[in-house]
Amino acid sequence: MSDQRAHAMNVVNELWASSVVAAAVASALTDSAARTPAEALTIDDERGALLRTVPELESALASLWDDRSAVGSALVSVLSQGAAAAAGTTRAWSDLSDDAMRAQGEASALVAKLIVSRIAPAYGFLRSDSEARVLDVGTGVGAIATALAEAVPSAVITGIDIDSHPLAIAESRLGELGGVGGRVRLRHQDVLDLEEIGAYDLAWLPVPFIPDPIIDQALTKVITALRPGGLLVLGTISGAQDRRLRTANAWLAAVAGGSTLTTDDVIDRVNQRGFLRLKLFETVPGGPILVAAIRPSSDADAA
Ligand SMILES: C[S@@+](CC[C@H](N)C(=O)[O-])C[C@H]1O[C@@H](n2cnc3c(N)ncnc32)[C@H](O)[C@@H]1O
Repeated sequence: MSDQRAHAMNVVNELWASSVVAAAVASALTDSAARTPAEALTIDDERGALLRTVPELESALASLWDDRSAVGSALVSVLSQGAAAAAGTTRAWSDLSDDAMRAQGEASALVAKLIVSRIAPAYGFLRSDSEARVLDVGTGVGAIATALAEAVPSAVITGIDIDSHPLAIAESRLGELGGVGGRVRLRHQDVLDLEEIGAYDLAWLPVPFIPDPIIDQALTKVITALRPGGLLVLGTISGAQDRRLRTANAWLAAVAGGSTLTTDDVIDRVNQRGFLRLKLFETVPGGPILVAAIRPSSDADAA
């Protein structure tokens, strides 16, 4: 075998094994039969044998264990998106299978958890004593909207999406939620067609899912819909310190027709618009970084 051929074999073998290891880690993290990291390594002999080829995986699983559902769902989601990108079957977000959409939805529910547990409290938002109007742009299968409605009894959430397919899945989820579902309103709408002014206390926009050519217009629409003093939360591509991770996330976003702007690009835009008290929040390893900031109440505030 030539040296070049041997090198190519090594490269492909390494990538092949790494992608299956990622699937095994996702499987271990989402395995409801595993009550501990040690069990995740022993329940399934073949999976355990594969996972034990990764140095110190048990201690890594142990440190992720409290967040295993969120990290596992995020890995399932990235594997599904990667498989669709590899097969050339993803031309738009709507081309993903229902399962991939649901997996992405489950992964994105972590955003709702972070908004409720860390982001809103950091700014004094979503307290139970007053109604909060929340805008969820790109609501998809409605995982963020429904998780917010369940966690915050005073919240009324408007979820908009350009695509009727995930919205149909979202509608059926609402039907299963009973009374809570009554506080979620879904609209089949492009973010560029938002016409509301100052109508929301908190607005969520997942930047990597909005195409680059319209992201600035989309930001303007969402900011206009937010009341002065309202809280803007943006999902952004992570990996500032890791070029491979950043370019990997940018490629997946671009393949699905979304924006490749990084966290730093988004911070620049938010600062240019005079937003106040900007803070960053990490999600899961590899996952998006959330950028939060307050819309200035007046031009004087922004100055
Ligand atoms: C990550 S997915 C949805 C995740 C969502 N949290 C869930 O629970 O499924 C992003 C969504 O943004 C939507 N989207 C893309 N461009 C949009 C636009 N211009 N206006 C509104 N929604 C858009 C897509 O159709 C897709 O459903």
